[in-house]
Amino acid sequence: MDLRVIILLVCLIALVSAKIHRFSLKKRSRRTQKFPHLKQLRIDRNELRSKFGFTPLRTVNAVEESGDGSGGAVIAEALVNSYDTNIYGVINIDGQEFTVQFDTGSSDCWVPSRHCTFCKKTCGNSVFQESKSKHFRRMNRPFSITYGSGSVKGMVHSDVLTIGDLKIENQGLGFVNSSTTCSVFDGICGMAFPALSRTKSTPIVQNMIAQNLLKQPVFSFYMKSGSSDGGSLILGGTNSSLHYGPLTYTNVTEDKYWTFHMDFIGIHDSDTKRCPLGCKAILDSGTSLIAGPAADIVHLNEAIGAQYDSTYDLWTVNCLEIEKLPNAEIGIEDKVFYIKPQTYVIVYEDICLSGFMDMRGLTYWILGDVFMRDNYSVFDVENKRIGIAPAV
Ligand SMILES: *[C@@H]1O[C@H](CO)[C@@H](O)[C@H](O)[C@H]1NC(C)=O
Ligand SMILES: *[C@@H]1O[C@H](CO)[C@@H](O)[C@H](O)[C@H]1NC(C)=O
Ligand SMILES: *[C@@H]1O[C@H](CO)[C@@H](O)[C@H](O)[C@H]1NC(C)=O
Ligand SMILES: *[C@@H]1O[C@H](CO)[C@@H](O)[C@H](O)[C@H]1NC(C)=O
Repeated sequence: MDLRVIILLVCLIALVSAKIHRFSLKKRSRRTQKFPHLKQLRIDRNELRSKFGFTPLRTVNAVEESGDGSGGAVIAEALVNSYDTNIYGVINIDGQEFTVQFDTGSSDCWVPSRHCTFCKKTCGNSVFQESKSKHFRRMNRPFSITYGSGSVKGMVHSDVLTIGDLKIENQGLGFVNSSTTCSVFDGICGMAFPALSRTKSTPIVQNMIAQNLLKQPVFSFYMKSGSSDGGSLILGGTNSSLHYGPLTYTNVTEDKYWTFHMDFIGIHDSDTKRCPLGCKAILDSGTSLIAGPAADIVHLNEAIGAQYDSTYDLWTVNCLEIEKLPNAEIGIEDKVFYIKPQTYVIVYEDICLSGFMDMRGLTYWILGDVFMRDNYSVFDVENKRIGIAPAV
């Protein structure tokens, strides 16, 4: 088997236009279209809540919960969870192409099947045709994944999955035959650890490793903001010409999500330093913002001077003053990493939203793209550690 490092181009799309498009599809009136994004944010947040097991809105059928009940189990997948950009790539299932989000916060790979009329007709997703695949193997194992505003259901089967020119044989995949919400992409491919899998399948990365497709058992994300090339997902290695200085490594403390120990999170030049004794954090490419315990988020938002908008239950800042805001700081392995206000403030046309989002009941932190953007992050599957360095 030929060993190599594959670089997969990952495209970034502006969700603003995708959102407007999606909302107009739903035929909302002009009046309600005035703030489609804020409404969307609420939906997104609910999906995020649900993804991490906080689901007051979860009314849909429960999925089998492997969970520890502490909110650690994934019972959900966020379908639309990006605030300004979304990272996606193209996968190929025995000749059929799908756009998927690469999500380090879940462990299943699924796409719509031809049985999902809603996916095809309403959402315009590509759907999988079993009959066109030579390697399709029927396993007939039902699965369902619940998220804030709905759920997907279907069957787990296996097939040959190609990413770039990496060909994974016998990949267990979820084929969705019913869905209640549209996603910008056809599906999701999870890159967290096997324990989180709802489809009870070996996740793609672990399969690539088992099938000796990777030079090294690692993958890395290089997310560029503000450029259309987006960045890349690198499977099988790290590339030192994509980052400045050495990588700071931190051990994975729980191999379900990519969980690690964060020393603190705070705002530069303020007394606001949350979890000064350290707390649990999860690095999640499938989330855009930084989510944390409600009380801590209030402190961070107050420290940057954000205003609470009670209508939407969100925090906003003055768009004209973004550059004057202080950096956010995150401590990892005795180093301090900064997040610039231009990165942690999400601009939606005339509304500027704080990237610090509360999730009531959450006792740990979820660091999403806001943290990963402009930096290079390495997910070392074998040594169970995460490496971070500023991107070139
Ligand atoms: C759709 O998936 C469910 C399992 O979630 C299964 O019971 C059902 O038979 C499937 N329908 C089709 C048409 O494949
Ligand atoms: C590393 O990235 C640089 C810059 O994008 C590229 O030119 C080079 O080919 C990459 N190296 C490998 C081994 O992929
Ligand atoms: C990380 O884990 C490795 C292997 O388990 C161990 O040798 C190392 O000391 C750990 N590093 C830290 C900073 O805890
Ligand atoms: C990201 O990179 C910038 C420099 O480009 C650096 O200042 C910052 O600390 C890095 N942040 C993280 C979270 O690694």
